[in-house]
Amino acid sequence: MHVQALELSHYRNYRNLSMELDPNLNIFVGDNAQGKTNLIESIYLLATGRSHRTFRDTDLINWHESEAQIRAQVSTRMGGFSMRVILSRHRRKRFWIGGEELRRQSELLGFLNVVLFSPDDLQLVKGSPSMRRHFIDLGLAQVSRVYRHDLVNYNKVLQQRNSLLKDIAERKARPEELHLWDEQLVQYGSRIMYCRAKAIERIASFAEASHQGISGGEEVLAVHYLPFYLQEEESIEGAGQFSAEEIAGDFAKELESSRWQELRRGTTLVGPQRDDILFRIDEKDARQFASQGQQRTVVLAMKLAELEFMREEVGEYPTLLLDDVLSELDFSRRSLFLETIGNKVQTLLTTTDRGDFQRDNLPNSRQYAIRDGQLALEG
Ligand SMILES: Nc1ncnc2c1ncn2[C@@H]1O[C@H](COP(=O)(O)OP(=O)(O)OP(=O)(O)O)[C@@H](O)[C@H]1O
Ligand SMILES: [Mg+2]
Repeated sequence: MHVQALELSHYRNYRNLSMELDPNLNIFVGDNAQGKTNLIESIYLLATGRSHRTFRDTDLINWHESEAQIRAQVSTRMGGFSMRVILSRHRRKRFWIGGEELRRQSELLGFLNVVLFSPDDLQLVKGSPSMRRHFIDLGLAQVSRVYRHDLVNYNKVLQQRNSLLKDIAERKARPEELHLWDEQLVQYGSRIMYCRAKAIERIASFAEASHQGISGGEEVLAVHYLPFYLQEEESIEGAGQFSAEEIAGDFAKELESSRWQELRRGTTLVGPQRDDILFRIDEKDARQFASQGQQRTVVLAMKLAELEFMREEVGEYPTLLLDDVLSELDFSRRSLFLETIGNKVQTLLTTTDRGDFQRDNLPNSRQYAIRDGQLALEG
């Protein structure tokens, strides 16, 4: 799928922008603070309903305006449709697909699929587990309605169970009332975990292969799912060994054995909200030992793997958003990357250095200069 056209009005530092995008490679060149990330962010927002940089939607509206709008025309193999978002200082944000307004933000996922790689993602390897869970959740939620549904329900149950635990701690409720929530927690939670296990297994094999390519075959990456109840050395290698029932059984056991602690602490201590993903390079824990360059290569491999995974699920590639992340790769890795990706995946990439991409063996592409929220097509 790809974004054919994009219109921004009063979004961040854009006044009125109207542009057409190449179905292959789009390169945006500009100095710092000209609007490169803002443009990438607007497409991410169309895909997911929120910015990757801020939770405050009002930050996205131009400082001098009270409303911002993003519109896009998207083309997929099932047909095309228009998308529209309105952000307002005075009311909640609103979304339209093909002229029809959505009731909830969560209904937006699955229309325009994206994979974003921005400098913050370099934390994927060494940062907190929540970043790794976000990585797998966003990939899965975009391609699976069932997963979105399970995730929403799990979080609701988790919240309600937590407030009940708090009430019990304050003697406003009785411990026996937990059972009802326990059952649902395990039901939705184990489905989420089973999906994660299977998805990570497939993403792992793609990532391990592309990592070999990018690192010139010198290093071996291994990626494992680490469910909350396992220790690192027990991480799941083949999700095929686990059934959804087994996961549910393990989850229920963990819940049982942590009951006393949960009652004492007044909050839920077990569940997929504590899952993690493990990376090993040549059998060493990447979280502890990976250099910056090695982390970058792992993240790039994971993003490419996510592209392949999503393509298998949906039948076509998502749009790839690369914000300022390719220039650090050396020349040969960069051209290899653009050759393999540029001809089959719609890619929007930003850079401050136009020299970065001139010598490369570029596929079909358009290049734009961005200055002060204005775009000029350069070829
Ligand atoms: N709500 C807003 N209204 C007006 N301008 C804004 C708003 N939010 C951010 N900006 C401005 O937009 C400008 C461009 O930001 P952006 O993050 O897109 O830059 P960039 O081109 O990605 O730069 P860099 O190369 O440093 O990453 C910044 O100068 C910022 O101050
Ligand atoms: Mg930027």
